[in-house]
Amino acid sequence: MKVDGKPYRTIWLAQDGTTVQVIDQTLLPHAFVVRDLRNVANAMNAIRNMVVRGAPLIGAAAAYGMALAMAEDPSDTMLARAYTELLESRPTAVNLRWALDDLRTLLAPLPPAKRRAAAYKRAAEICDEDVEICRRIGANGLALIRKLKPRGDRINALTHCNAGWLATVDWGTALSPIYQAHDAGLPIHVWVDETRPRNQGASLTAWELGKHGVPHTVIADNAGGHLMQHGQVDFCIVGSDRTTRRGDVCNKIGTYLKALAARDNGVPFYVGLPYPTIDWTISDGVAEIPIEERSAREVSHLTGRTDSGGMATVAVLPEGSPAANPGCDVTPARLVTGLITERGVCAASEAGLLALYPEQSRAA
Ligand code: MRU
Repeated sequence: MKVDGKPYRTIWLAQDGTTVQVIDQTLLPHAFVVRDLRNVANAMNAIRNMVVRGAPLIGAAAAYGMALAMAEDPSDTMLARAYTELLESRPTAVNLRWALDDLRTLLAPLPPAKRRAAAYKRAAEICDEDVEICRRIGANGLALIRKLKPRGDRINALTHCNAGWLATVDWGTALSPIYQAHDAGLPIHVWVDETRPRNQGASLTAWELGKHGVPHTVIADNAGGHLMQHGQVDFCIVGSDRTTRRGDVCNKIGTYLKALAARDNGVPFYVGLPYPTIDWTISDGVAEIPIEERSAREVSHLTGRTDSGGMATVAVLPEGSPAANPGCDVTPARLVTGLITERGVCAASEAGLLALYPEQSRAA
């Protein structure tokens, strides 16, 4: 996508052929800064500290993290160490494990001298593949949007967190259909949940929709149910950090509440996701997906730009009040109207997913 007229992906290889560059998402929307990742520790910290975030981008960054590790030291010891350390950087988005497994399977049988080149090549392929997958999710989602019967003179979508191009390599998952609808001339408008505590909606989704010229309005997380009751939401669309074999969807904390409100109000609730987000090894999302417990400080403090242009962090809790911060929740498949993938749209069920991915029929 373009930033002030210049096309960007969220991750790319620098001119030197070794350094990986990313957009620092912790500084958006107030500053656009590109960071260099020069070694595997940089890649691990970028994932852990959410300089890069969003399930598909986490996978891409992990793939390049393995390449950086092989550039440092292509030994078996480093291969094993990089795999383990990168895997521990964030627990919920399964794209991380998918990318690491892919790279390890490729690299382990190779002689060390060939690992560096092979790792960079595969990381670049994963990025290119992600762009194409997300473009297709957008096309499949656009076909759904065209069939909607909006209640007013615009099509009102509601989204949670950031599942746009910043969360992927390009296009986004949930936002790809929105961009394609907008580009096709449909009168689409997006209600953007602010997405406390880290505000990915207010800071990232609003920023990227604004840069692309998509009409949008940021709302407090608690406003969605009210808007749905008053006919102001035609469909909800979100991304996923991990989707189980039977179609349970794990995504940013608060997604589940939106799905409940959507069900109560007859609003379709769609999830956009690429195949590496499907965890075929598990079925029951509530019981089996590890939920990231993040720092209480994300709840107790807010950071933003002051009227004078500086950045400030302020406390919003009484001193001494503890805070809890589960990072994701699980929306059971029964609340999901459809899964939008690169292969098409299916019911959120094992049968629905297997109809699109028959090669997984024999998996555990
Ligand atoms: O904690 P984050 O910002 O990495 O959470 C991101 C999300 O919850 C996204 O919705 C999800 O990763 C899908 S991204 C296309």
